[in-house]
Order: sequence, then C-alpha cells, then structure tokens
Amino acid sequence: MLTSTYQRLEHHNGTVRLTSATIEPRPTGPTGPTGSVGSAGPAGSAGECSVLLAPAAIGVCRSDLREINGTRHLRRDFGHEIVGTVVACRPEGLVPVGQRVVLDPHPRVRRTSGFAELVEIQGERAEVAAALVPLPDDSPAVRSVFVEPLACVCHCLSRLDEATRAAGADPAGPVAVIGAGTAGALMAAVLSARSVPVTLVNRGRPRLDFLQERGVLPRTVLRTADETAGLTVPRAIVATAAADTATLGLAARVVAPDGLVLLYAGTQPGQAFADVDLDTLRREQLTARAATDSKTFQLVGSHGATREDFTAAMDLLDPRTPQRRELGRRLDRMVTSVLPLAQGADLLNRLARGPFIGKPVLVPGRPYSDAPQGAAS
Ligand SMILES: NC(=O)c1ccc[n+]([C@@H]2O[C@H](COP(=O)([O-])OP(=O)(O)OC[C@H]3O[C@@H](n4cnc5c(N)ncnc54)[C@H](OP(=O)(O)O)[C@@H]3O)[C@@H](O)[C@H]2O)c1
Repeated sequence: MLTSTYQRLEHHNGTVRLTSATIEPRPTGPTGPTGSVGSAGPAGSAGECSVLLAPAAIGVCRSDLREINGTRHLRRDFGHEIVGTVVACRPEGLVPVGQRVVLDPHPRVRRTSGFAELVEIQGERAEVAAALVPLPDDSPAVRSVFVEPLACVCHCLSRLDEATRAAGADPAGPVAVIGAGTAGALMAAVLSARSVPVTLVNRGRPRLDFLQERGVLPRTVLRTADETAGLTVPRAIVATAAADTATLGLAARVVAPDGLVLLYAGTQPGQAFADVDLDTLRREQLTARAATDSKTFQLVGSHGATREDFTAAMDLLDPRTPQRRELGRRLDRMVTSVLPLAQGADLLNRLARGPFIGKPVLVPGRPYSDAPQGAAS
C-alpha cells in the first residue's frame, strides 16, 4: 500500500467538505447497489477484490450536483468521471498496477468518493474488472474525463442507428438534438464529425452562446426552442436534464410523421407522455409508438453504456487519428476550469447552488500537467 491517509471530497446535508480518509482493512460484505459510494477496504471474501485508484482528473457532472442537493433518484455515483491509475490491487494481477483506466460507473461495485487523491473500489472480481476500462497511456488526462459521457452518447447514437435501420430511414438523415448540456453538445459534435446534418436546440440562449463563443459548435447548428418554427426532421434526440412535458412536446413538434424520437434525458418512475411510460421505456431500452393530435412517431429508449461504447468513445478521441483530432479539440474547449482538489469543495458548493455550464475538472495530483501520463503516479 503506497499510503494510508489521503484527502477526498464528501458531501453531507447539502455541503461538500474536504476530508482526510484512512485506508483500513475491513471485512467485506455483500455487493452493494450500482455505484454505491461509501467505505471500501481490502478484499476479505472469496471472489471479491479491491483496487486503489489514483485519479489524475475527475470531471464534474450534473448528477454530482444532484447528489449534493439530494435530488438524485436511485443511483449514488459521486465523482464518477474518473481518469486514473491503478496503484494497488488485491488479489494481485486482476488489474495491473500502473494501468491507466477510466471508470465505468455501471458495473456493481462499492467505492469511495471519486473526488479524491485515492478511490477505494471493492466488489466481485468480474464487476471490478468491468468497472476499470484500460485507457491508452498517451490520452490526455483532462480530455479523457469525456470518455464516460461520450460512451453513453455512443450508446445512444448506436440505438439511433439501430432504430433508423429498423424503420428503413436514411442513416445520414438530419437529426435535431434537444438540450445543449454536456450530453447534447457531445451528440451534436459527434454527429457533425460524421457529416450528419444536426441542429442543437436549447430552451435558453446562454448554453448556445457558450458553445459558439468557445468554438465547440458553429452558430449555424444552434437554435433556441423559439427559433424552431418550420424545423422538421426525421429524427430527434431528447437530451435535456429532465424529460419534461414541454421538452417532449417540442420533440413531438419537430419530428416528422412516423419519425424517431430517441429518449436519453433523465426520467422518473411513473412519468408518461402520450400514454407511454417514459422511465420504463428508457431504462429497458424499449421502442413504443406514440401519438399526438397531429401525428404518430416512434419513441426509443437509451440507457447506460457497454464496454464497446467505451472503446468507441476512446477511438473517437484517439489523438493518433488525424481526422478525429478536431473532435478532441472541441471537447477541450468545453472545459471551464481545471482546479486542484483543495479548491474542489468551494467549486462544487457553488455549482450545486448556481448555473452549471461546461465541464469543470478537478486534478488531485501535484503539480498538474495535461501531458500524457506514464505509469503509476
Ligand atoms: N440515457 C442515458 O444512458 C444517460 C446517461 C447519462 C446521462 N443521462 C441523462 O442525460 C441528461 C443530460 O445530461 P447532461 O449532463 O447534458 O445534463 P445537463 O448539462 O444538466 O443538461 C442541461 C440541459 O437540460 C436543460 N434543462 C435543465 N433543467 C431542465 C428542466 N428542469 N427541464 C427541462 N430541461 C432542463 C438545459 O436547458 P437550459 O440551458 O435552458 O437550462 C440544458 O438543455 C440528464 O438527464 C442525464 O440524467 C442519460
């Protein structure tokens, strides 16, 4: 073990604090719920393993802020956009020490806060191995915090491709993405890189201005919801923070009759639109026919990401592929701040209470460098 004490950010009663933690051997219990964040000690039961991960960079996601505010449903995943290096593994060899990884938050492991100098991860061996996705040594740490959200976006765009094929529609046909947060901006950037005509729609102007001013996306693809009169597309994706009725109504308005509406946005149990149970549709990745007064269309759910989606996301950011460098540069421009862990509590407390645009990143190591990382740090 390299060290027995380390610093991490934890939240309690709506406030984030920097705390000092100790790695202590503890007996292991049954595997907890997906992404449960709590104490995790070295492995103690057969079939279990524990890994210590040293994050080089952690992206801040809206869901982290929801956890701080107590408004997140079902999952606990505080600090999950992690790029780091494995510094210890028991039993030895399950994941090589020195391996750079990104965290896949979907496998069922128990872990401590991801906003930390070290993250203690524990669980069934197959789950822990699945949660740690190898990252090439030459991938820039800060840019790589986008691998996890980009994997979810790759998954969503694969679902769109499948549904497009099944409907016999044009796979290169136009797409309207509704919601210009991180997910929507990534979707629009990836579709643009594939030469698919895309319109990114947002209810308010500030996010569109941010993306334009930073050179993430050109003005020509950005529209406020008020500017969508006359817009009709065969395919639309709902990628807002919440799948509220107004947003789904907008998607239903812009999609052509018999078109596709892909549901990616967060849903809550019991939520419905046009008699379709949205939460079940999204979580179980179903397809349903929806009807409004003026048309019928297909609603398609997208949930999570697979190892293949993580591979696809890393491939999209591979700096050795010249035609993909531009996508990486666009994502770099979405990074609003790169701060040490010591400033993380103030940052998260401020973001949890105010507007949240762009991608803030915390870097626990000292000194910080965005040069490609080597082995163990
Ligand atoms: N399907 C999956 O597998 C999957 C995976 C990861 C994330 N997600 C979900 O994807 C969604 C987008 O994630 P993100 O990181 O891009 O979030 P985000 O940055 O918070 O999204 C911001 C967008 O949501 C809009 N918005 C904010 N509050 C809203 C509300 N109450 N009602 C309707 N729209 C609202 C914003 O509009 P303004 O600019 O006008 O405020 C903006 O368009 C989240 O719901 C997340 O849970 C899904």
